[in-house]
Amino acid sequence: MILVTGGAGFIGANFTLDWLHASDEPIINLDKLTYAGNLENLASLANDPRHIFVRGDICDRALIDSLLATHQPRAIVHFAAESHVDRSIHGPGEFLRSNVEGTFTLLEASRAYLSGLDEKARAGFRFHHVSTDEVYGSLSPEAAPFAEGHPYAPNSPYSASKAASDHLARAWHKTYGLPVTTSHCSNNYGPFHFPEKLIPLVIVNALAGKPLPIYGDGLQVRDWLYVGDHCAAICRILEDGRPGETYNIGGWNEMSNLEIVRQVCALLDELRPRADGQPYRSQMVHVADRPGHDRRYAIDARKMERELGWRPKETFASGIRRTVHWYLEHEDWVKNVQSGAYQEWVTKQYGAES
Ligand code: NAD
Ligand code: TYD
Repeated sequence: MILVTGGAGFIGANFTLDWLHASDEPIINLDKLTYAGNLENLASLANDPRHIFVRGDICDRALIDSLLATHQPRAIVHFAAESHVDRSIHGPGEFLRSNVEGTFTLLEASRAYLSGLDEKARAGFRFHHVSTDEVYGSLSPEAAPFAEGHPYAPNSPYSASKAASDHLARAWHKTYGLPVTTSHCSNNYGPFHFPEKLIPLVIVNALAGKPLPIYGDGLQVRDWLYVGDHCAAICRILEDGRPGETYNIGGWNEMSNLEIVRQVCALLDELRPRADGQPYRSQMVHVADRPGHDRRYAIDARKMERELGWRPKETFASGIRRTVHWYLEHEDWVKNVQSGAYQEWVTKQYGAES
C-alpha cells in the first residue's frame, strides 16, 4: 500500500480517487482536515476497504511512526501543506509549521522506517514530495519557462516555505540516501477545488451574483493544468522516476488572469445564462493587487515527456468545460464548503461588502 498525506484536499483527493479507480492497491490517507481538507471529497470511498482515512497532523512524529510500522507502505506521496498564497500573507506561521516542520517530520520518520526494512524493500521505497513552480519566483514576459535547474527565488511566505521543504527533501536524499523524488507543478484546476483560489472563486461568485475580483491589472500569467493530468504525472514518477531527480509538470497553457476569468464567464453564459440576460463578465471588478504578486509562471515540462512519456491529456478548453460542469452539478458541495470559516476568510480578504 501507499501512504498519502493531505489526501482530503483538492489535489490529494483527486489523486486518491484516481488511484483507487485505476488500481486495487490500498491507500492510507493522513490528513489533519484543516479548513482546506474535506471528507466530502472522498464520500464515494466511504465503504471502500482500500481507503484507510486517518485524521492527524504530519508534525506528529509518533503517529507517523506508528502508521509506517503498522501498514508498511512501499511509498509516501506527500501533498499535505498550507497552499494559499493570500492566506500566507495574512498568517505565515502555519505555513512554516505544516510545510517545513511537517515535511521534516515525515522525512525523519521515513528515514527511521527505511533503516528497519530489508534491502529489497528499501530499494523499492519512494518518498514523493509534491512541490510547486512558485519556488522559482517570477518570470519576465520573454524569459524561457522554468526548467528543472532553474534557480530558486521564492517571493511569498507560501513559496518560501515550499522552497524550504524542497531543500530538506533534497538534503535527505543526498545525505541519508532517502529515495526522494520531487515534482514542481503549475496551477491546477478541476473538481473539489476550494473556492478561495481564482477559478473556483470566479465560478461560485459569478453564480451568486457577486463581484469577480481581479488583482491589479489582471495581466499576471499562470500555466494552468487540469488536476487529473497532475495526478497522472505523479503516478508516472512513482512508477519510473529516478530517486534524487526533480520533475517539472505543466500544462503548456499560459494564460493571463483576465483571459481565464473571461473564459469562465463565457462558459457560464453558455451553460447557465444569467436571468437578466447580461454577461457574467459584467461582474468583473479590479481590486488592490496582492503584495509581492508574481507576474508570470511557466513550466518547461519536456523532461516529463522525454523520460516518463507524460503529456497533459486535457486542453484548457476541455478541462475548464469539465470543471464548470462539475461545479454546476455539485451545488451542495459548494454550499457546504462555504461555511462560517469560509465567510470569515472572504471578509478578511475582500472586505465586508463582498
Ligand atoms: P489544499 O490546500 O487543497 O489541501 C491541502 C491538504 O493538506 C488539506 O486536506 C489539509 O487538511 C491538509 N493539511 C494541511 N496541513 C496539514 C498538516 N499539518 N497535517 C496533515 N494534513 C494537513 O492543497 P492542494 O491545492 O491540494 O495542494 C496539495 C499540494 O500540491 C501542496 O503541497 C501544494 O503546495 C502543491 N501544489 C498545489 C498546486 C495548486 O495549483 N493547487 C500547484 C502545485 C503544487
Ligand atoms: P491563486 O488561485 O490564488 O493561485 P496562485 O496565487 O498560487 O497562482 O491565484 C491565481 C492568480 O489569480 C494569481 O495571479 C492571483 C489572481 N487572483 C485574482 O486576481 N483574484 C482573486 O480573487 C484570486 C483568489 C486570485
